This record gives sequence, C-alpha cells and structure tokens, in this order.
Amino acid sequence: MATGRTGADAVQAREPDLLRFTTAGSVDDGKSTLIGRLLHDAGAIYEDQLAALRGKAPVAGAALDLALVTDGLRAEREQGITIDVAYRYFATPRRRFIIADTPGHVQYTRNMATGASTADLAVILIDAQLGIQTQSKRHAFIVSLLGVPRVVVAVNKMDLVGYDAAVFERIRDEYGAWAARLGFADLVFIPISALAGDNVVTGSGRMPWYDGPSLLTHLEHVYVAGDANLIDFRFPVQRVVRPDQSFRGYAGQVVSGVVRPGDEVVVLPSGLRTRVTRIVTRGPDLDYAFPPQSVTLCLADDVDVSRGDMIAHPRNVPVVERSVEAMVVWMADAPLAEGRTYMIKHTTRTVKAACGKIAYRVNPDTLHREQATELGLNEIGRVRMTLYQPLFVDEYRKNRATGSFVLIDPATNATAGAGMTIDRRASPAPGDVADGLQVATNVFRQASRVDAAERARVLGQAPLTVWLTGLSGSGKSTVAHALERRLIDAGRACFVLDGDNLRHGLTRDLGFTPQARRENVRRVAEAAKLMNDAGLVVVTALISPYEEDRAMAREIIGPERFFETYLAAGVDACERRDPKGLYAKARRGEIPDFTGISAPYEVPAAPAIELATGTESVEQSVEALFAAVLRRVAQPR
Ligand code: ADX
Repeated sequence: MATGRTGADAVQAREPDLLRFTTAGSVDDGKSTLIGRLLHDAGAIYEDQLAALRGKAPVAGAALDLALVTDGLRAEREQGITIDVAYRYFATPRRRFIIADTPGHVQYTRNMATGASTADLAVILIDAQLGIQTQSKRHAFIVSLLGVPRVVVAVNKMDLVGYDAAVFERIRDEYGAWAARLGFADLVFIPISALAGDNVVTGSGRMPWYDGPSLLTHLEHVYVAGDANLIDFRFPVQRVVRPDQSFRGYAGQVVSGVVRPGDEVVVLPSGLRTRVTRIVTRGPDLDYAFPPQSVTLCLADDVDVSRGDMIAHPRNVPVVERSVEAMVVWMADAPLAEGRTYMIKHTTRTVKAACGKIAYRVNPDTLHREQATELGLNEIGRVRMTLYQPLFVDEYRKNRATGSFVLIDPATNATAGAGMTIDRRASPAPGDVADGLQVATNVFRQASRVDAAERARVLGQAPLTVWLTGLSGSGKSTVAHALERRLIDAGRACFVLDGDNLRHGLTRDLGFTPQARRENVRRVAEAAKLMNDAGLVVVTALISPYEEDRAMAREIIGPERFFETYLAAGVDACERRDPKGLYAKARRGEIPDFTGISAPYEVPAAPAIELATGTESVEQSVEALFAAVLRRVAQPR
C-alpha cells in the first residue's frame, strides 16, 4: 500500500494543500459520474478525452456521460494487469487532490480498504432514490476501522427525487444517528446530483433549502494537517545495503516519526542499542527524515541487523507481540476460520500465524456483534492471531503503518484479509483477562459429589435467574430488592446481584463501552450461574442493553434457568423520574455513552415477562413478577 514512495511523495506529505481522499459507493450510486464531474468541472480532463466523449454522446449537445471518463480509463488500465485502485490527480487553485478510485465489484472491500488506507477523507455515496443500503453502512464501517477521520456523505441523484429536502433530511438524520457510534471527527452531508452537476463543484439553484458548501468547496477547505504520526519513530528494515567493505547501511521507509543523525536507536528484536551516523539518499545526506521517505540509515556500531528488523528510539518502542488482537476485514472466498494457518505480512516482516479465537463478527447494518467461528467474504470481525514469530506492533489507532497487517492465504498466495490491531489492554475482548494477567492453561474441571437435584431437595426450590433488563431509572434495583424481600418472606433462598453495587467490586474495572458492558454482563452471568448451581434464586439488575449480550447470559446460565424480565419504562418516563440526576447530566454532555441518550438500548424481542414499570406502581409490578417467579421456583418437596 505505501511502499517505495519517492522523495517527491515525501514533499507532498508535508504540504497542507494536498488532500488524499477515497470514494465508496455501490455499483450504481454514481461514483464514476461523480469523479468524472469533479475532474471535468474542475477543468482536469484532458482535451482529447473530452473530444472522444462528445463523439459518444447520443445526441449532440446532450449531457456528457461522465462515467465514460473514468470507466474508459479503467478499461485501458485493466488491459493486461489488474490494478484494483487507480490514483487520480487533479488540482484547483486552493488545493491538490489525489483520489483513490476503487471499483465497486464483489471484491469491493479489498479495493476500499486499499484505497482508504492512506486517505484523509472518504466520500460515501448514497443514492437518494434507494436510500441507505447495507453497503453504505459497510463502507462507513470499514472507513472508520481504517481510521479515516473525515467522511462526506454525498446524497446523490437528487434530481431524480425532485430535489426534495425531505428525502435528503431523512437520509441525513437516519445515517447520522447510525454513524454517531463510529466516532468520526467530521461527518458532513451534501445533497448533490453528479449527473446534473448540482453542488458538486458549484452550488445549486435547485436546492435553495441547502445552505452548505458544494462538495468541491468542502474538499478544498476541510482541515487535514496534523494527521501524520511524527512522534513515534519506526523504521522497518527492508534490506541491508553493503556494496563493498567500506559501506554498510540499512534501507527502508520511515513509516512514522522523525529520525536525525546522532539519535540513539534500538534494533528489534535483538534489543541492541547504537546511534544513527548518517541518513543516506541518492542525493546529499539528510539532516532528518520523516514519513513516508525511503532512506538508508548508517549506524555507529557493527550490530547485527537484517531484513524484517525494526529500528526505533529506545524510549519509544513498539510492543513485541506473540499474538495480535485485530479487527479483520476478510476479502477471500474461502472463509477465515478458527484454527487455520495463514501468513501475516506486517511492515517488512512476514510470519506464519494461526487464527485463534474469533471474538465476534460485526453486522454492518446494526453494528451489533454476532457470534462466529468464521468470517466469510466481505465480513468483518474481531480476531486473535497467534504468531509463530514475534511482530513489532503498535495499536492501529496510534500508528496506521505498524498497526496494520495483511493476511495471505498460503495455498493461493493471495491477499485474503486486512487487519487493524487493537490494544487489548484498552479494549478487552469478551473473556479476555485484565492487564498483566495470563490466561491459564492446564486447568481441568473437577466433578462435585453433590448433584443439582440433591441441592434442590435440600433447599426445596428450583434455582432460577430472574434477569431484569431496562433503562437506568426503569426500576430494576427497586423491583429486584422488593422481589427478594417477597421471596425470602415466602421461604425461598434468594440473592440480588445489582449492577450498581457490583461496579464497586466484581466489575469495578469496567466502564460503559459496548465491550465493557459485555464483560460486565458476562461476569454477572457467571456469578449468577454459580449461585444457581448452589441452589439459589438470583435476581440480577443490570441495564444489559444489548440483545446479543443477554443471549450470551442466557447461554452461560442455561436457557431453562434464565428468566428474562423487561422493565418497560421508556426514556421519557425514566428521564422524568431521573432518580440519580444522571439523565440531566447526560443531556448536558457530561456522561458519554449514556444508555437511552447517547448509547442504544435494544428492547428484548421475547422476554419471559414484561413489566409496565413506566405506568404501574412498584407493588403491581413486583406482585406480577413474584407470582410468575414463584411458579417456576416452587417444586414439590
Ligand atoms: S450495563 O449497561 O453494563 O448493564 P449497569 O447496569 O451495570 O450497566 O450499570 C448501570 C448504572 O451505572 C446506571 O444505573 C447508572 O447509575 C450508572 N451509569 C454511569 N454511567 C452510565 C452510562 N454511561 N450508561 C448507563 N449507566 C451509567
């Protein structure tokens, strides 16, 4: 993706007037027409191509078919060799642009990922007539995974919907609410017609209700400086240069950070330290080098350095990893499967790796996580790869170059997937262990001499987990403790696991990201299971907002013991009560990811019971629940 750039590219990297962007859209969203329109109206199409186009226009004077410009170039390009991504250049007086143009066929994720991997911004096209498609969401998701911070959603074909503001606003509101979870720094919507030219280069008189910039004006003005990582110096060694006895240097690309002669450096994996003496190029030596320059470094000592080693500053090194946790975009027909081996290409190093646990697959429509043991073509999931040899890795969020890798299928030698590493400590996967703790191996289950039936006889009850779910303020804790009182009074052994209380102990290391909530649910479900195994009735009070996490709890506890109870009080009712003042705080923006305000709550599809805690009294809810629970718990002594 970013290898072998020339000195000229390096100069470009410093220029704030250069914008690299990529486009994404489904086949008929009008991507080619849009690019054609940008190139044409910005005056970037060569004269001879224009003449050819005029010849092809069906009626003299009819609108030029701008798609022919790009499709024509692509056809030429594809003779003989397959290049998936075409880079196109154009300029206006304000800025220069590089577009990574990616064809939209079935293998689109591969092209998209390649195109987006170096982009400052992505333009995602949505067809105003068709509205939001799964692909439009998948594109944004991949773009966010690749760390492209800015997105323009171009709502295209406005001419075909009569330039109707309502159509645009509906798409903007729905897509905007969905994309809020992806955390883009900048998300802009522009209504356009690539065919008719509205709001592409110049504004449009046909949409007086839109007062924002045209697409080109936005691209010309959007602020992109400061994206490059100039802090963490990383130099993956590409080759040892040794033309004769008098010279020894190490060639490669500065993928991040800055290096100067005199700098102390460390070579990984050996850990040997030395100093940089010279930065050699084809021209004169450099005083410093920065990304993406390709240079040759000379070192003071005759240390052992070979291809695939990494040079960094000693106080700022990547992590030497024997396994990596990553979001993987899968691009091959044969699925990625747990247990299979692949090759991982990471900077200049290629190592063998086994696919370990697939933590989940992400549904691009809903952004929900689904259980999976495989990733099919175009699917995305969180995967752990076990490495046969170590890699020198940074988190992708901090360093695109040393945080990304390519998975290669050893059978075909083809690129099969792209991975973006996640810092495991910052974002544990379900079932992961906390910082510094090792996952245990060599542990075996020991059998008990007492079985569940015996315990049930002693206690005179069938164990059950009453899993209360609902918004904050829906009454979970109140109902849980009142139910516990009623059950104990009725002679039943019972215990409450309250989310708020547990967050002071068992789950005190967890916050409120989707991952943290999942781990919260997992731990509490495991605790409930143990208590059920001991014969107790358990009442849990957790928001547990995700359907998928509740399904996991059901699995852990066992479906026959899981009694899902939905406290159906809506945001309005809960916000009116606001017993802890949290809704008010959340509205003021003081609590991020607050359920119901800035984080989702997924209503259970088929709870065992639903309590109308928004309208009825606590007593009414508790009585209804108590009666239902008692029927399940009571069993002949
Ligand atoms: S859960 O989503 O992981 O199931 P849990 O029930 O344990 O949540 O904790 C929710 C409680 O934490 C709420 O009742 C509230 O008091 C508090 N809280 C603090 N921040 C948040 C937040 N961002 N979203 C929801 N609840 C929060």
